[in-house]
Amino acid sequence: MSESQVQLAPGTPIVTVDHVSLDYHKEKEPLPVLVDISMKSGKDELVGITGPSGCGKSTLLRIISGLVRPTSGSVRVLDSEVKGPREDVSMVFQNFVLLPWRTALENVIFGLSSRKDLTDVQKEEKAKSALEIAGLTGFESVYPGELSGGMKQRVGVARALATEPKVMLMDEPFSSLDDLTAERLRRETYTLLINPQTSIQTVILVSHNVEEIIELADKVVVLSGRPAHVVGELEIDLPRPRNKKSDQFFEWVDKVYTLLS
Ligand SMILES: Nc1ncnc2c1ncn2[C@@H]1O[C@H](COP(=O)(O)OP(=O)(O)O)[C@@H](O)[C@H]1O
Ligand SMILES: [Mg+2]
Repeated sequence: MSESQVQLAPGTPIVTVDHVSLDYHKEKEPLPVLVDISMKSGKDELVGITGPSGCGKSTLLRIISGLVRPTSGSVRVLDSEVKGPREDVSMVFQNFVLLPWRTALENVIFGLSSRKDLTDVQKEEKAKSALEIAGLTGFESVYPGELSGGMKQRVGVARALATEPKVMLMDEPFSSLDDLTAERLRRETYTLLINPQTSIQTVILVSHNVEEIIELADKVVVLSGRPAHVVGELEIDLPRPRNKKSDQFFEWVDKVYTLLS
């Protein structure tokens, strides 16, 4: 039986980060950024990574995506080692990174450029269906410049969904949106992504916003220090949808701040 036919049990590790360290180089001297990071993200889980600005969250996500190679350690998606960017891993970025001269539909189709196995018609079908899931039906022929920040990020989500990835990585996806738009997109995100109707098996969300992480994550990995290491891992067992005004919610937020201080 092929991997895709096997029904994996919830919690089965999909992404495994195994003793990853990373040095950047500054004036030829190695500058350690991440030290000995190990974490897992399981089937049907949304795992949050938080920590102070500049601690290395984006770097860790780039390593998981295959865009950056770790100095030591490894990353696996199911049983396969990540050695570079791959089709079963998609990323949503803080700044959307849309091509301004292409429509919403064309931006999503562009995300499928490397799929030589698909005809143009199939690419368009996949892109339209991803736009629909992301709540953009009717906006196919609109250019990014005419879209609000929230709608631009929906295009970013649609582009990431269209490749039918197993792993969805999100780097501060709500951080450049106004509060109300961010709140609305956050509320939709969990049900949209942790959903058997998509190909996605696990989501890793990076944010410096602790409340956002407690609102969305099943599990939180807290990074801190220079170089950054894992200072704590918390299973958030609050029922969903989560009440951000409840005492239990604040207790979890407080636990993360305690780990960070
Ligand atoms: N390409 C790079 N070369 C050298 N240093 C980098 C590079 N990218 C990031 N850094 C440094 O690595 C550290 C972690 O950055 P980053 O992963 O962007 O942190 P975060 O996402 O948590 O804000 C920062 O000190 C940053 O200046
Ligand atoms: Mg970052």
